Amino acid sequence: MNRISAQISGIQGFVPDFVLSNKKLESMVDTNDEWITSRTGIKERRILKGENQGASVMGIAAVKGLLEKTDTDANDIDLLICATTTPDMVFPATANIIADGVGAKKAFGYDLQAACSGFLFALTTGAQFIETGKYKKVVVVGVDKMSSIVDYTDRTTCIIFGDGGGAVLLEPNTEGYGVLDSILRSDGSGAPHLHMKAGGSRKPATAKTIANKEHFVYQEGAAVFKFAVTNMADVAQEIMEKNDLRSEDIRYLVPHQANKRIIDATAKRMGIGEDKVMLNIHKYGNTTSATIPLCLWDYEKELKKGDNLILASFGGGFTWGSVWVKWAYDA
Ligand code: UT7
Repeated sequence: MNRISAQISGIQGFVPDFVLSNKKLESMVDTNDEWITSRTGIKERRILKGENQGASVMGIAAVKGLLEKTDTDANDIDLLICATTTPDMVFPATANIIADGVGAKKAFGYDLQAACSGFLFALTTGAQFIETGKYKKVVVVGVDKMSSIVDYTDRTTCIIFGDGGGAVLLEPNTEGYGVLDSILRSDGSGAPHLHMKAGGSRKPATAKTIANKEHFVYQEGAAVFKFAVTNMADVAQEIMEKNDLRSEDIRYLVPHQANKRIIDATAKRMGIGEDKVMLNIHKYGNTTSATIPLCLWDYEKELKKGDNLILASFGGGFTWGSVWVKWAYDA
């Protein structure tokens, strides 16, 4: 029998309605549209509003849409993995809340946290369960409510992040389509440059940690940029070389949307033009675990069976990676 690979059988995204534009940010912090656009490529981002609205709200919406679109019965899902850095609660896992919300009663689920590389780590993990033959339907979600951990008085971070989610269905394929290879890396020595200081076991929440604004994203932007631009380009090039893929073989680079300049550098290293780069950072900003599924969702109509996609990411941890996907269907 041919090797089993995990094909992506469907993709669905969800973004909240509320739009936070650069113009609006100008009235909140000392910034301007020209700076944000030229330094990051971001024009606006979506924010999930309302009381008691966690990341799961977006995850549930995405998975419900995915099941409908792929004509999948929720009870047939074996496993649901949720990549998120902003879970509804420290526990239980947001994956469990999403599975319950969509009626996936037979699925087991867990969260996976690898910051902006979360979706690629989760996709690779989910694919393994299909490749071994153990499971037939795995849902991988990437979702983040970054607005819940962003300080809207800090101009260096609040202009970057947004909220959103996306989900894919993985199923077995024996014709060579799907997740064909991945290179995943992490380096914990990067933690000082990008983290949240309090709220974990090292520094639980106290009145002082709240007063010191330690429950927000802390990022040394320029330092992270340097690592991101090198490592994301390196790992994208590495997976091409490893699999003997030339630039003309690639239909799309699907990059984590952190900064247009990092994306451009990665595309340049891969030797591909702008027409082969999925881009939606201008609409949604950096949605952490959700950027890559939201790109696939936005570009789904353009994709044809057999298209080679290189997914690439870099994020907190540090974590980074690339995944080679051979797309399995015509939209
Ligand atoms: O997704 C997870 C991984 N994260 C990333 O990949 C993010 C990587 N980093 C970046 O994308 C960029 O470093 C940022 C977009 C965060 C910042 O851009 P930068 O070109 O690296 O700017 P910078 O931090 O070096 O700051 C340059 C100047 C500073 O002013 P001075 O010191 O030159 O006078 C900042 O104070 O820009 C100033 N600045 C701003 N000005 C207007 C910083 N933020 C803003 C702002 N509006 N929002």
